Amino acid sequence: MPSFLDIYRKGDYRNLIKSECFLKRYDRIFAEIHTDAPVIVELGVDKGASLRLWRETFPAAMIIGFDAHLPVSGVPPNCTLVQGSQQKRADLERILAHADPIDIVIDDCSHVAAPTRLAFDTLFPHVRPGGFYAIEDWGTGYWPNWPDGALPQNNNHLAGMVGLVKEFIDVVGIPAKNRLRKPPPIYKANWSTMNSPYEYVIFYPGIVCVKKAVEPGEPMHSPLARKEPSTGRRMIDY
Ligand SMILES: C[S@@+](CC[C@H](N)C(=O)[O-])C[C@H]1O[C@@H](n2cnc3c(N)ncnc32)[C@H](O)[C@@H]1O
Repeated sequence: MPSFLDIYRKGDYRNLIKSECFLKRYDRIFAEIHTDAPVIVELGVDKGASLRLWRETFPAAMIIGFDAHLPVSGVPPNCTLVQGSQQKRADLERILAHADPIDIVIDDCSHVAAPTRLAFDTLFPHVRPGGFYAIEDWGTGYWPNWPDGALPQNNNHLAGMVGLVKEFIDVVGIPAKNRLRKPPPIYKANWSTMNSPYEYVIFYPGIVCVKKAVEPGEPMHSPLARKEPSTGRRMIDY
């Protein structure tokens, strides 16, 4: 795969609101994408510099940018822009008319938990098995002056984006509970990802990235969608 970092260093990306360390991380993570023409959705595009970087790295990609305020210039060719609010499911669903299935979602939008959760619940079901859903700047949950952040008082800090991304751990781990009815001896436990919709989750400072399982097992509702149990099975079905 071409390197985001190399292309960034060769171009004029002064409007990009991503640091080099983010690009290094994306180079590592997306090395697992095995197509030259991925479908990339970015939530939050500001002046369009990140869209340019995706386009120059993947000339054949299908790129969809979403923002409340669309850039008037600086958008590379053949990108689709969708104007909308991350707080409105119907706006987010309009992305799916252009991108379904999706290989990569990058959420660099509100950095507030409720709209970020809504976007995840709306778009993750449309991520291709083996695809990625990255959320940037989740550390806002540690900031007392952020709308839903707070200073951590203990090691179980759950404010804002921090609480949201910690739920991903349960989605990976809780399928183990399904074995409680007939627990195997620990040395026979099969910690496969069979029953989790996520193959793995990577936590970097500033980026959390969920890789969708290649062969998701039983349909298992994400706790991220817990508020709408009617749309699927409960998280733990004994
Ligand atoms: C950090 S900037 C995006 C930077 C860009 N991805 C880059 O790397 O250069 C965040 C963008 O999210 C948009 N945004 C913030 N909250 C939003 C919301 N609730 N709905 C839609 N867009 C929102 C802002 O308009 C802004 O353009």
